[in-house]
Amino acid sequence: MNLLAAAFVLLTPIPFLLFYFFRSTKEFPKSWKEFKIEVRTILCGIRSQNEDFLLRKRNRIKLESLPNKIAVITGGNRGIGLHIVKKLLRCEMKVVMGVRNPESSKKSIETAIGEELCKNNITYFQCDTGDMESVRQFAEKVKQSFPAIHILINNAGVMATPYYETKDGFESQMAINYLGHFLLTHLLMPELIKGSESNDGKNVRVVNVSSCIHRVADMDYKDFNCKKFYYPTDAYAKSKLAQVYFTKYLEVIFKERGLKIQSHAPHPGIVNTDLFQHSSITAIPWFKNAFYKTPESGSRTIVYAAISPYLEGKGGTYLSNCYFDKSHPKSKEFDEIKKLFDFTCQLLKIKSFGEF
Ligand SMILES: NC(=O)c1ccc[n+]([C@@H]2O[C@H](COP(=O)([O-])OP(=O)(O)OC[C@H]3O[C@@H](n4cnc5c(N)ncnc54)[C@H](OP(=O)(O)O)[C@@H]3O)[C@@H](O)[C@H]2O)c1
Repeated sequence: MNLLAAAFVLLTPIPFLLFYFFRSTKEFPKSWKEFKIEVRTILCGIRSQNEDFLLRKRNRIKLESLPNKIAVITGGNRGIGLHIVKKLLRCEMKVVMGVRNPESSKKSIETAIGEELCKNNITYFQCDTGDMESVRQFAEKVKQSFPAIHILINNAGVMATPYYETKDGFESQMAINYLGHFLLTHLLMPELIKGSESNDGKNVRVVNVSSCIHRVADMDYKDFNCKKFYYPTDAYAKSKLAQVYFTKYLEVIFKERGLKIQSHAPHPGIVNTDLFQHSSITAIPWFKNAFYKTPESGSRTIVYAAISPYLEGKGGTYLSNCYFDKSHPKSKEFDEIKKLFDFTCQLLKIKSFGEF
């Protein structure tokens, strides 16, 4: 009888799960490899969600007055980014937004945040982080208007999108989430260095928004653009692992060159935003509403990474719920992070990172 009851409890959710899976737009895993990735992704998400709940009291950020400081952010017109922008404005900072559509972004930001707070405090420039020419043009506009930058938040992102190659020939998630941000950071290094000279003796910061899902990924240099094997959540996880490696290696460069810059890779938590539009969870909207963090709550660790005095001098770190967390074990291996860094410089034809 006990066995029957256990079987009932274990098996009852399966038809429901299958029902939701088939109702969603997401494709069912077609091979054992895809199935394993899917299960690891789901388990990683559940673990992070539990942590978000258990550590919710730690997920706090104290805003402070930082007038005359300039923050650059990619995305930011909706989702978590919108709340990051709101917090930066409440710190009295000037915010430069790299968005795909400056006009509609201005409208949505002013509606969500209020014209008063936005007035003269936000500059909108066009930027598609998946298009390297657009990133170059964005960086050029930033350079012309803002010779010194104090915070760079590489936030824009997409998740688990169907396969497509960008016009530069890169797999789109890797291009939008990682390569565009790598290039942007390289191009804005002189302005970050200048910012560090007017930052009251404190380090300026580069924040690469990552995800807990990076832990289930592995880099594949032989098939970097996923032409031989593409599973959407796997490609997303790889792009977020790349963000973590990049953060770690940036810290090495900053220290080697004696720069007053530090880098962080925060995970915002599992947050109820449109990022999940290609995920099977879209078929269960009540679940997201009930159990995911709000975008406001998700923005806290990112802003913590950008301004918390507690983090001063503690760069190269992966953060979650406003504290340090463990990143992928390979992200501690120097050869591993250098390999991706050198590979990316080659891919983007960067001769010497941050130097012109
Ligand atoms: N939500 C979560 O649970 C979660 C968990 C871990 C990590 N993250 C990370 O947090 C960051 C923000 O995600 P979110 O949840 O706020 O997602 P979201 O609500 O879907 O917002 C994504 C943002 O990225 C922008 N974006 C997308 N593609 C772009 C491109 N090619 N060029 C420039 N901007 C682009 C979007 O602008 P448009 O309006 O132009 O599309 C939007 O501002 C992402 O890096 C994501 O990977 C989120």
